[in-house]
Amino acid sequence: MNKKPCVLVSGGAGYIGSHTAVELIGAGMDVVITDNLANSDMSGVEGARRITGVDIPFVDVDCCDRAAFAEVFRRYDFDSVIHFAAFKAVGESVDNPMKYYRNNLASFMNVVELMHESGRHNIVFSSSATVYGEADELPVTEKSPRKPATSPYGNTKQMCEDILRDSVGAYPSLKGIALRYFNPIGAHPSALIGELPRGVPQNLVPYITQTAAGIRECLSVFGDDYPTPDGSCLRDYIDIVDLAKAHVAAIRRMIENKNKERYEIFNVGTGRAVSVFELVKTFERVNNLRLNYKVAPRRAGDVVAIWADTSLANSELGWKAERPLEETLRSAWAWEKHVRGIE
Ligand code: NAD
Ligand code: WQD
Repeated sequence: MNKKPCVLVSGGAGYIGSHTAVELIGAGMDVVITDNLANSDMSGVEGARRITGVDIPFVDVDCCDRAAFAEVFRRYDFDSVIHFAAFKAVGESVDNPMKYYRNNLASFMNVVELMHESGRHNIVFSSSATVYGEADELPVTEKSPRKPATSPYGNTKQMCEDILRDSVGAYPSLKGIALRYFNPIGAHPSALIGELPRGVPQNLVPYITQTAAGIRECLSVFGDDYPTPDGSCLRDYIDIVDLAKAHVAAIRRMIENKNKERYEIFNVGTGRAVSVFELVKTFERVNNLRLNYKVAPRRAGDVVAIWADTSLANSELGWKAERPLEETLRSAWAWEKHVRGIE
């Protein structure tokens, strides 16, 4: 019998990592989670353990600590890594660029180097639609040009993509897939794992759910005078479980040697543009509540509109976003209620 594939999920205690661990296990793979809990706590790992019924191994380690991280590579028998471990607050990265360059670049360089040195093969890197900036043509395809990054965070995503491309080019045993996520939202249907932002949420959906829970007084809709149908920005909101499943497809593609190039890039979105007002109204409708919101000035640095052409991921990964926005927004509220002990 073939051995089960084993995947190291770095940053697996976090929002996307914990959901991905669940889907990998659901797909019959073994998982090892590493995280230094810099932006998370053990609830993500514990939730993933409860959902799967598997006592997922967890190692508290900073990927930037090369010696300590190397120990994980000696101890566990995995052939693939999904690298989520990074800081992700765009505004903070502008104020404290070194924090972002040091953490996001050093951690990824350690992953790549340790994989190369220990003869591991497959890397999935968490990239972002932020690399497209304000796109000239919509929807964006993987061939759309990357625009100069408008934040150090965005720059770390571009630089890590390049590090992966160059390393795969130089080290014949390595294969890599960069997944460019659009806007991940929602929570697992069990409401046992979800997004846990620290402090005031920077992203739209956690701000909405915290406002609905009474933690925030009022949602500010940043701008209603954009050149879009209702004046608010357009984004491609991708369900977190769908996003997690894209990682399973990416890992499988490399394990089964189905990749056409040794380094590949895929957009992970729904292909559908949704405005801020549409999202707010859908949230209200499906959860049967009224949200306190007001129009506020535009937020510096926001792009007007971005959504994905997902045809490459659909055809090559055999993956497609499936969960309707309504269900995703119900899950986001169910998770917020679970966290706050509401109802
Ligand atoms: P998250 O903060 O919930 O998860 C990241 C995890 O990495 C956290 O648990 C954190 O403690 C850990 N971590 C950070 N630096 C580490 C280090 N040096 N060593 C070990 N652990 C470390 O964020 P997320 O939303 O789950 O994002 C995961 C990845 O996806 C990140 O790379 C992020 O940049 C990328 N991404 C996120 C989004 C989004 O909107 N959430 C969009 C595009 C890309
Ligand atoms: C979505 C829309 C806001 C909050 C960011 C990063 C990107 C990626 C995903 C990591 C925008 C509006 C928001 C609020 C609002 N992360 N909004 N009121 O900016 O598309 O992308 O997260 O890679 O790199 O930049 O996501 O959720 O912040 O905003 O009106 O309180 O909601 O203006 O139009 P964004 P977001």
